[in-house]
Amino acid sequence: MKKTRRKKKKMKGIVLSGGTATRLFPLTATTSKQLLPVYNKQMIFYPLNTLIKAGIKDILMIVAPEHSGQYLNLLGSIFKKYSINISFEVQSVPRGLADAFIIGENFIGDGSVTMILGDNIFEDDFSVAINSFKTGAHIFAKRVSDPERFAVVKFDLNNQATRIVEKPQQWISDFAIPGIYIYDKRVVVAAKKARPSARGEIEITSLHNYYLKLRELKVSSFHGEWLDAGTFDSLLEAGNIVKNKGLYKKFHPIVEKAIKEFNEQLKILAKKKLN
Ligand code: TTP
Repeated sequence: MKKTRRKKKKMKGIVLSGGTATRLFPLTATTSKQLLPVYNKQMIFYPLNTLIKAGIKDILMIVAPEHSGQYLNLLGSIFKKYSINISFEVQSVPRGLADAFIIGENFIGDGSVTMILGDNIFEDDFSVAINSFKTGAHIFAKRVSDPERFAVVKFDLNNQATRIVEKPQQWISDFAIPGIYIYDKRVVVAAKKARPSARGEIEITSLHNYYLKLRELKVSSFHGEWLDAGTFDSLLEAGNIVKNKGLYKKFHPIVEKAIKEFNEQLKILAKKKLN
């Protein structure tokens, strides 16, 4: 009998880029946090680059309603000629990170998805983890000096994750979970089951606990820079690190070209307006 080989479903990407960005107010009274500059590029290009570098071709941008036009102007067509499809959904209210999978249910369909937060900048390349992913969930961990600010993961002696706690008031571990996550399609079910936390959000930690219970949660640590540009100081620090480490020059050629073409187009339009 002829063996039929099942074709691996393509990995899709979500960039969660809504939110209220209260910590960056009043800068964010006029634009989205993720459209603010990090050195010489809009912040959003860094997480987009992480997905494109891993070969992801279908990307859903989830944005706040008041900024949807700005995102469409910037990202609506620049990747089209490189066969990278960017689609958009609006998150009407910032209901929490897990809401991305309810909003993205049809987009995810039957496949797997990598989600990245729009204000997270990574030096590392996650291509191997993304491309070798099969089922369950794969998240990451990074040692930090202020774990109480993050979702934190505790490991046993065999380096297996045993507990995940959102912003623990009592120390459980120094390993924070950064804003890049890989899931199979069951993430949608898990997100729909999640109940709002005390702060009124459906937390991504609920999803991790769902996979942890099933013993299908993989957690890997990494060592490169992880920058979360959500406060004045971290935004400034992100700009300095991106400049000093030359991260602004390390974009995938497609992203580099698309940005350049967009900027040239803007120059032409500006000249036309002057004449
Ligand atoms: P946060 O930094 O936790 O929230 P925020 O961006 O609204 O900022 P602040 O705490 O200063 O008010 O969000 C992390 C990322 O996730 C950020 O890129 C915004 C995004 N986000 C959404 O898109 N929707 C949401 O419902 C939430 C909670 C966050």
